[in-house]
Amino acid sequence: MPKTIRIQEIAQYEGQKVSIQGWLHNRTDKGKLQFLQVRDGSGFVQCVVLQQEVEPEVFEAARELTQESSLVISGLVRRDRRAPGVPGGYELGVTGIQVIQVAHGYPIQPKEHGVDFLLDRRHLWVRSQRQWAVLRVRATVIRAIRDWLDGHGFINMDTPILTPAACEGTSTLFETDYFGVPAYLAQSGQLYNEADIYAFGRVYCFGPTFRAEKSKTRRHLTEFWMVEPEAAFCDLEQLIEIEEQFVSHIVQTCLRERGPELALLGRDTAFLEKVVPPFPRISYDEAVEIIADIRAQSDDPALRALLDLEWGDDFGSPHETELTKRFEKPVFVYGYPTVAKAFYMEPWPNRPEVTKSVDLLAPEGYGEIIGGSERISDPDLLLQRLEEWNLPRESFEWYIDLRRYGSVPHSGFGLGVERTVTWICGLDHLRETIPFPRMLKRVYP
Ligand code: 4AD
Ligand code: MG
Repeated sequence: MPKTIRIQEIAQYEGQKVSIQGWLHNRTDKGKLQFLQVRDGSGFVQCVVLQQEVEPEVFEAARELTQESSLVISGLVRRDRRAPGVPGGYELGVTGIQVIQVAHGYPIQPKEHGVDFLLDRRHLWVRSQRQWAVLRVRATVIRAIRDWLDGHGFINMDTPILTPAACEGTSTLFETDYFGVPAYLAQSGQLYNEADIYAFGRVYCFGPTFRAEKSKTRRHLTEFWMVEPEAAFCDLEQLIEIEEQFVSHIVQTCLRERGPELALLGRDTAFLEKVVPPFPRISYDEAVEIIADIRAQSDDPALRALLDLEWGDDFGSPHETELTKRFEKPVFVYGYPTVAKAFYMEPWPNRPEVTKSVDLLAPEGYGEIIGGSERISDPDLLLQRLEEWNLPRESFEWYIDLRRYGSVPHSGFGLGVERTVTWICGLDHLRETIPFPRMLKRVYP
């Protein structure tokens, strides 16, 4: 048996005999010639079986192979510019095939299937080429996130998943029984990170986050992954600068390392190339005006109804979609109304109805990928807010302590991995950006 290689390194083996361990993805028969598309997890390669060049039993073995059959295939690596695959440009001139298992009746055919059919078979769907590409971009996004933060003085601190209280509003809590007392799945690790900065200065947590979202939209999962950096001695302006460096790094890393995957997805990367600092910044007040203008100029009554908005309302998906269609780069919207945001946000100086908050909205209609703010650092103001928000003081005693012993201005943000991947991949729904999505009506498989 020749040396076993992974398809992703095939270019290094031009002119050599190699073996590939994988599965049959697709096939085309041309009588005396069979084209087998083989995948091994690291890539896809076209393997050519020519009747006159192989032993009869090899040609027969190739005939037998059905979609998703497992195999070890060997042959000569040849350069061919037109050969399809990822990475393209190479093919295998087959000399031997070892069949591991012939798969019968694989349910996902190379044709269009409905999305519910596919989601019910998500355990198989992940093998498809597009899903493979999206999930590899996801892995790169996650690594780029960690690389940037680890390289900029942020230290990883894991925060609990079983928590005693709400962080992001009480309406989306998943409650669970914790030995006779209610506990909730974490909506955010932020509050714990605010404690950790007093020990480490700059921290981040990165993990699954749970929200009992009752809405069925293309932007909401009930379980998603969020990275939340938090920094001491950091104000809103400094936070914005961190965010634009961070997001640019993530996007540029994907462009550099996931070009073939983005090409496979048909992503127009021209927009992504523009994602370098600085990003435009507009205030909430300005955003409200822009949305009002868009609404006034539209002669679609349905859109006008969707864009209805009063000062004080948080933006919904339609507002963000229309607003960000007007932008080529991610755009910061800062200074959201106090009533629209969470209890912990620092008020704007001399404008208590506004918070020192900032969301980052992805362009091309994608909308919010980051929410963040400066945090309240005064204990009395925090106590007042807990009361106004009807939050139980007992559960927050430890959090108030943070304002009693060496309180400093501090800020942080949360970036949603799935929304970021959706935008980078140019998808129209976030459900394909996580291996096994959890949504309002789906916990299977
Ligand atoms: O704006 P959010 O709710 O902010 C927080 O949770 C803060 N505690 C973060 C912080 O300051 N440390 O959520 C942050 C991001 C959103 O911008 C979005 O990308 C993502 O998390 N997100 C969701 N992603 C998928 N499905 C959902 N249901 C999401 N909810 C929020
Ligand atoms: Mg938000």
